[in-house]
Amino acid sequence: MRTRHGARACAVYADRVNTRTVTADVGLEPANGSEALAALTAAATELEAGQQPSWPDTAALSEVIETLASYPPLVFAGECDILTARMASAAVGEAFVLQGGDCAETFASATADNIRDRIKTILQMAAVLTYGASVPVIKVGRMAGQYAKPRSSGVETREGVTLPAYRGDMVNDFAFHETARVPDPQRLVRAYHASSATLNLVRAFTTGGFADLRHVHDWNRGFVANSANQRYEKLAKDIDKAMRFMAACGADFDAMRTVEFFAAHEALLLDYERPLTRIDSRSGRLYDTSGHFVWVGERTRQLDGAHVDFVSRISNPIGVKLGPKADIDEVLRLIDKVDPNRTPGRLTFITRMGAGTIRDALPAIVDKVTASGATVTWICDPMHGNTFESSTGYKTRDFEDIVEEVRGFFEVHQSLGTVPGGIHVELTGNDVTECLGGAEKIIDSDLEKRYESVCDPRLNHQQSLELAFLVAEMLSQA
Ligand code: PEP
Ligand code: CO
Repeated sequence: MRTRHGARACAVYADRVNTRTVTADVGLEPANGSEALAALTAAATELEAGQQPSWPDTAALSEVIETLASYPPLVFAGECDILTARMASAAVGEAFVLQGGDCAETFASATADNIRDRIKTILQMAAVLTYGASVPVIKVGRMAGQYAKPRSSGVETREGVTLPAYRGDMVNDFAFHETARVPDPQRLVRAYHASSATLNLVRAFTTGGFADLRHVHDWNRGFVANSANQRYEKLAKDIDKAMRFMAACGADFDAMRTVEFFAAHEALLLDYERPLTRIDSRSGRLYDTSGHFVWVGERTRQLDGAHVDFVSRISNPIGVKLGPKADIDEVLRLIDKVDPNRTPGRLTFITRMGAGTIRDALPAIVDKVTASGATVTWICDPMHGNTFESSTGYKTRDFEDIVEEVRGFFEVHQSLGTVPGGIHVELTGNDVTECLGGAEKIIDSDLEKRYESVCDPRLNHQQSLELAFLVAEMLSQA
């Protein structure tokens, strides 16, 4: 094994390279793969990584990293390549990306019902978008790995008591007491298993016949009746009718039995992402096999930081979040770093500017990126620029602001002749009360009724469907 950094190489990563003979696909491991993996490992000790927990027990961490490195990949390199190709089609307007799921998954909420209802919600939204705008929808869950959170403050104070901030179930526990908030590396292993179980169910639901478009009605079952549901029911009837017509014409529905569904999360905790990075036997390239698509968040996208370095070394399709203060030159340098070969589908900018800012902040960035000759996929995250505290003390978002940011996103791209490639939303299939507004008119005093998120507020099932109907209209006019 090559060690460029001798003893400093921290025991945590040093031996691990030897154990990394598992490839992301079957076949023989090409020679150059191990070099790339060694370089990735070396970078781990040389670069600053923001938002990492201070693990109190580094020996335990080393063991956990060894364990993760010995586990099978959660996704295959070939699947990641398919998603890259799909993202490339979204970049040129031939498809639309729908990314959605919890802000923070939790171990306790990784239940069959929750996972099923989130998948159903995404499938329903995709049906609304596909039918409403006649465009293929690329379905990506913010799930099976979304267990780590960046925090704006390292501590949290409640009623005079200050404790380390909750950093996601992959790090510590949400409960507000001292022992719960101590980072525990065993949680990285639990996150792997929870992600594995989640993905298993996702694959069963999406390839086992449940996601067949002929079940478009069934996806609406079990949800509380409301106006968005009813509107969906009407659309489902239309789809049904079209399907029966096609069947009568002798169309082959085999292709409809299964649905492509990809998993995405923020590549935040490098002690989780690095050991799951494997060599693809076909090409010798590295893939982070913890998910198909991984993104770098607004707080960790420093050009010389460990996160950008990490994603520049892996071959998955990559997202980078861009907030309203994103510097144009930095954005161009990000492209050079993450997508030096200008591969369509490789790089997605997920803009999260805020409803009041997007029309001012986004055009210059899109303009300069376009002028640079790069083909990136533009996705709108209308959630993270629109968070505020309600009068009742809850972290919330207003449905109107969310819609307004998406509207601004479409307008900006329309005026520049560029492509609005998708949306990225925090949602749940449950009937929670976390975001204000929507047809149900959730108000401040409703938030306490069913506020379950351990991090950011999510659209509930009805609000998610409503958003899909509105976006379908915007998309069909784009
Ligand atoms: C998130 O997606 O939950 C998040 C923290 O986003 P951002 O990095 O854009 O703030
Ligand atoms: Co969030």
